[in-house]
Amino acid sequence: MKNLAVLTSGGDAPGMNAAIRAVVRTGLAKRLTVWGVANGYTGLIEGSYKRYGSRDVGSIIQRGGTILGSSRCAQFMSIEGRELAMHRLRGAGIEGLIVIGGNGSQAGARAFHQMGFPVVGVASTIDNDLYGSDQTLGVDTALNIALSAIDNLKVTASSHRRALLVEVMGRNCGYLALMAGIAGGAEAIVLPEVEVEPEQIAHSIQAAYERGKPHAIVVVAEGARYNTAGLVEAFKQQHLLVGYDIRSTVLGYVQRGGTPTCADRLLGTRLGAAAVEQIVAGNSGVLVGICKGELVATPYETVVSGIKLLPSWYLESADILAQ
Ligand code: F6P
Repeated sequence: MKNLAVLTSGGDAPGMNAAIRAVVRTGLAKRLTVWGVANGYTGLIEGSYKRYGSRDVGSIIQRGGTILGSSRCAQFMSIEGRELAMHRLRGAGIEGLIVIGGNGSQAGARAFHQMGFPVVGVASTIDNDLYGSDQTLGVDTALNIALSAIDNLKVTASSHRRALLVEVMGRNCGYLALMAGIAGGAEAIVLPEVEVEPEQIAHSIQAAYERGKPHAIVVVAEGARYNTAGLVEAFKQQHLLVGYDIRSTVLGYVQRGGTPTCADRLLGTRLGAAAVEQIVAGNSGVLVGICKGELVATPYETVVSGIKLLPSWYLESADILAQ
């Protein structure tokens, strides 16, 4: 292999730049020409790539987001879109592709691999809903941002003796909410994975009030059956009393746009380098991640069929810890 391309796709994740830097520099060390694709699969279809040298990725390791740009590209989900992308790549002499992204992006990468193009994925999403890496790229930073917000919210909630509902991202996965809730000392955590009625949540908040707590922090996953707006509405409709005055905050994209933590810079670096090593060794159609502290390359077939569960100890202990 002489020419390798790299792209970032889907929701950006802190640490993507560290991964891009590692792909470029590891590729150069292996005497490859490395091409950076602009704006995810959109750039692949449009043929928007440029050659990246070592200096082009200088001083990016500390930056959030992705210097390549990203997109959610519906056209690449069609066979015609992928054929066009492959035609352009082959025309440019590019023989391999590294895809840094989450679930949807890796599904696209798998389809591309099945069409015969060598692809290796880097597990990257703040949601941590991708099988093949215990923690995906961006999660640590997103968690730290959520925690810092929760710490601040606790201060103001205590001053006013309020309950604060904090909504965190994660799509349909409750990982961010569970871990931020536990590390942030939440009184209740609302997850998509656990069926719970507004009445039970109101009860937990009221119990905290009766125990004399100066605040109640409720961390709510955006994908839960009741998000923060839904919960507030349900409390009102069902005349549920919680003791405290209630306020809510939706953290949203703030969690995605942060400066990558040390852990995410190192993870991006390790996975970016590993992706190049895999593709050069001819091991394509795999996703690189870290499981139980070890680097693993998981075949896409296993990635799509695997079920990633929430860490059971934290899930089972959340209520006890909230007392
Ligand atoms: O997958 C990352 C994520 O930030 C999710 O947590 C969130 O639900 C979604 O992306 C938002 O998507 P978009 O960037 O398309 O608005």
